Amino acid sequence: MRKRILEILRKNTSEAVSGEEISNILGVSRTAIWKHIQALKNEGYEIESVAKKGYVLKSVTNKMRPEEIAAKLKSKYFGHKVYYLDSVKSTNEFAKTIAGENFENGTIVVAEEQTGGKGRLSRGWYSPHSHGIWFSVMLKPPFLPQEASKCTLLAAVAVVKAINKYKGVNAVIKWPNDILLNGKKLVGILTEMSAEFGKINYVIIGTGINVSVPKEILSEELKPLSVSIADCAKEKIDRVDLLTDILKNMEDLYEIAIKDSFQPILEEWKKYTNTLNQEVKVLAPDETYYGKAIDIDEDGLLVVKKEDGTVVKVLAGDVSVRPATAEGRNYQ
Ligand code: BTN
Repeated sequence: MRKRILEILRKNTSEAVSGEEISNILGVSRTAIWKHIQALKNEGYEIESVAKKGYVLKSVTNKMRPEEIAAKLKSKYFGHKVYYLDSVKSTNEFAKTIAGENFENGTIVVAEEQTGGKGRLSRGWYSPHSHGIWFSVMLKPPFLPQEASKCTLLAAVAVVKAINKYKGVNAVIKWPNDILLNGKKLVGILTEMSAEFGKINYVIIGTGINVSVPKEILSEELKPLSVSIADCAKEKIDRVDLLTDILKNMEDLYEIAIKDSFQPILEEWKKYTNTLNQEVKVLAPDETYYGKAIDIDEDGLLVVKKEDGTVVKVLAGDVSVRPATAEGRNYQ
């Protein structure tokens, strides 16, 4: 009902629409309309009541509500089904609880705040209220389980392309799935999956984007490591615009990957990465070694030439890149 009231108000922003008119269109009482208008105001919509004339929508909420996402969505199916939560422990965890049911491909879970956001390698992900985009995309890709990292790679390309449209922002992808701005972490991606032998049941691509996290609320540990788009962008960032841009990019890349080939996505990934042809330090689960990142293979593994000349593929672990200006073993 609220979605339909908003649709009517959005079409008539220059003039008031009477409660009677809305109640006739929607077939409910004027009192019911009034109650829904109050609820919309509480959700952050600015709706003016003009005496004897009716309601005018002055501005929409700055929350990432499903109605706002739907109004700006350009994708064919990514983001068409939205689970919106004001506060949740983790959007990935929430997505897992509903993934057992028959979900629509491209369903998203988005939250204003996560109280227990999850990062890679059992780390946490700080997700304060209204200052970021914390969301998970749920997919049933026709990939083999060992190809699931393709989802992470295409998500990273989709996100960095959308973010770099803002003036003043020039983010890069650090293998496998960090997006950095001025050497600090801007975006993290955590892909989780459920699979059987030879078959993926579902993949959840969880993405956390620091949009405007104030420095003052960051812990002392995070302060030097974390950055927000607003710290560099020379224009205002509308979270719903950014989210819907990312969903469109992700869907386009996903369609290429499943219908055509993964090669174009790898090429794009290579354009945005800071990791290739760089000296790297690899913290693998069982050893730490140094070498040069020479390529990324078709499944997204990083190909590293070790200092002793042997070539290895990095599947999991943390990779630090040595900046060109750094001296000695100084890696970021
Ligand atoms: C990383 O460690 O770099 C990955 C961070 C991923 C954070 C996102 S926020 C949305 C989704 N839900 C989670 O709990 N984590 C991911």
